[in-house]
Amino acid sequence: MSAYERAERAVSPIAEVVLAGLMQRRKSLPPKLFYDAEGSQLFERITELPEYYLTRTEARILERYAGQMVEAAGDGLTLVELGAGTATKTRIVIRELLSRQSRVTFYPIDVSHTALEDAVRNLNGDYAGLEVRPVVADYCEGLDGIANTSGEKLVLYLGSSIGNFEPMRAGAVLHSVRGSLRKGEALLLGTDLVKSERVLVPAYDDAQGVTERFNKNVLARINRELGGHFDLKQFKHVAEWNPKCSRMEIYLESLREQTVSVDSLAMRVHFEQGERIHTENSYKFNEHMVRSILSMGGFELERTWTDRRNWFAVHLARVK
Ligand code: AVI
Repeated sequence: MSAYERAERAVSPIAEVVLAGLMQRRKSLPPKLFYDAEGSQLFERITELPEYYLTRTEARILERYAGQMVEAAGDGLTLVELGAGTATKTRIVIRELLSRQSRVTFYPIDVSHTALEDAVRNLNGDYAGLEVRPVVADYCEGLDGIANTSGEKLVLYLGSSIGNFEPMRAGAVLHSVRGSLRKGEALLLGTDLVKSERVLVPAYDDAQGVTERFNKNVLARINRELGGHFDLKQFKHVAEWNPKCSRMEIYLESLREQTVSVDSLAMRVHFEQGERIHTENSYKFNEHMVRSILSMGGFELERTWTDRRNWFAVHLARVK
């Protein structure tokens, strides 16, 4: 039986990506593996860390400019949010919309139904005039289902989540979002901006070690779900700024030469001392990069709002 046949037979849905990622010469595991229940909780903690300025800065931009954003977006808007999670920042936009229109329908789209349940529980009852219709799906499927709703859509894609894709892939993701929108409908896109390494590196390597636990949770998850035998103490969390590619790069680095078996995959993975598993890129944007991914996606950049330090930006883009 081939290694891939073994992976297909393994019970866990992560078997194939883990096998493919660890068999490569340059080992890598996709960032979607971060987000099981444990990893999603750790990510929530990251968003509150003093070093992780992204969430806080974006929320401030929204608090300050949501009025202008909504006004510029259009009238009679139906709100959609991609990867809504608990939809905390969305409240700011919802309040602004409800001050201009008596009814708002909100479609939060997320793969995690527990996050959506939380969002619905938090929002329902808090705002007269708000109807929440959660969609458990990935972005493309979820948007397909609501392509023909009434009202003009305003799509929120916040948190610089677009920055976890390679630029070409980011363009393709936006293009598939665009496929479910009509000409003239609007997108509010949050992107983290290029800044000093002295700010960027600690945001991905915090003093309390929460990001380290978030990163190592990928190995813990392989242990839990695939019978892996990773000793988490034998791997180091590494966060590096790559100025040429304009991205933070996250790795797990083997502290010694070791071989780790993964029972469900009947696999033994060898690591040299210092060998790394690449787990994530987080792109940091300038205006040119933003225009480029939007244009690949079929959107036109209309306006950008930033904070005083120019650390983060929220862009209004329109379907061409
Ligand atoms: C979800 N995403 C935008 C986060 C980021 O900043 O790239 C994921 C993250 N990885 C480490 N810390 C946070």
